[in-house]
Amino acid sequence: MTTRILTGITTTGTPHLGNYAGAIRPAIVASRDPQADSFYFLADYHALIKCDDPARIQRSRLEIAATWLACGLDADKATFYRQSDIPEIPELTWLLTCVSAKGLLNRAHAYKASVDKNVEAGEDPDAGVTMGLYSYPVLMAADILMFNAHKVPVGRDQIQHVEMARDIGQRFNHLFGNGKELFTLPEVVIEEDVATLPGLDGRKMSKSYDNTIPLFGSAKQLKDAVARIVTDSRAPGEPKDPDNSHLFTLYQAFSTHEQQAAFRAELLGGLAWGEAKQRLFELLDNELGEARERYHALITRPADLEDILLAGAAKARRIATPFLGELREAVGLRSFREQVQVVTEGKKKATKAARFVSFREDDGFRFRLLDAAGEQLLLSISFADGKAAGQVTKRLQAEELDLHAELNAFSVRLDGEAVAYSPEFSTDAERDAAMQRLREALAPQE
Ligand code: TRP
Repeated sequence: MTTRILTGITTTGTPHLGNYAGAIRPAIVASRDPQADSFYFLADYHALIKCDDPARIQRSRLEIAATWLACGLDADKATFYRQSDIPEIPELTWLLTCVSAKGLLNRAHAYKASVDKNVEAGEDPDAGVTMGLYSYPVLMAADILMFNAHKVPVGRDQIQHVEMARDIGQRFNHLFGNGKELFTLPEVVIEEDVATLPGLDGRKMSKSYDNTIPLFGSAKQLKDAVARIVTDSRAPGEPKDPDNSHLFTLYQAFSTHEQQAAFRAELLGGLAWGEAKQRLFELLDNELGEARERYHALITRPADLEDILLAGAAKARRIATPFLGELREAVGLRSFREQVQVVTEGKKKATKAARFVSFREDDGFRFRLLDAAGEQLLLSISFADGKAAGQVTKRLQAEELDLHAELNAFSVRLDGEAVAYSPEFSTDAERDAAMQRLREALAPQE
């Protein structure tokens, strides 16, 4: 049994070293497990909720796609795609929106935070809140439920959203599953041992603190960023305390135990901070150098990236398209060709042999009965309304057929009145064979 692991990356920024250590690197490692069936995607519809700058959206999608591939994601093994290339996702979002309690969404942290801020500022509680922000968890539930993910690795701030996906999926199963689990209920995975990297100033590395180290800038940019790491004022020669240095924490995230032990000893021995920064730069440059080259090669070939992502979308849609078909069936968005199935419970086999198709005309309603190959077996007389036509189709399936040969065709009667006619046949033998086929098609099935 493989485990389906799914996660999305919102495409609003440029990946930094913290994203790499905290999310990208562990996800790529996890995707190499033979038991893992990984679905990683660019959550670019989610990005639109937070950002109305088209150039930034586009740049970020390109950079993030190139980053994941440069870091070693195997797009043949994992399924790697853009959310916006899967039209089934917004369609599923609507089906889920219709079963999502407003009260549930009222409790979403991101929405509540905006409301609290507005209230505090004496504004209207919903000032500046879009329906996109409000419905964010429903779109995310669609991302997850569309592919029946078992595990969803996310940061702590996203736990509530995965729980909401469970709630919404469960509700849908209950309403439309007919005892069947339409959706797998996802489990959240929080990687406890994954490093949250400190940024230049020692706080968590985050774009919002402006303390990040770029992942794939030039070597010079990397060096300059490392030079800006805040240290204490101990002079060269004075012992440094590795356990109170975020420079050392950064070093730890990318080194072996032996390297760490050696660096620790050097710091305790009075290594100058300038030297220490040089050591960290070399370590990072070594870890990232090759991937950086791959990144820059990819980013200069956007058309190739497009092909890779479209192939990923095609792979994802091979699952999404038929599954959405099932879900549409489940909620009652069904083809009218399948009407027989609707009116006759317990006669499912009959639907394979023949089906009723009703249609409207200027002067009323008619139906045709088609055999499995789509050949017309019967065309009805015109009825005043759809209900009358429906009742006749029901009775034809439930009652003994009353067939009458007429010239080179035949009619079907109910209460002595013709309600439908066969097509015309050139011989009596053909006509009789068609009568037989009709009897078989509408015979009650065991
Ligand atoms: N909301 C997530 C974040 O900001 C990104 C995301 C979108 C996601 N859809 C998802 C994560 C589905 C996991 C599963 O981090």
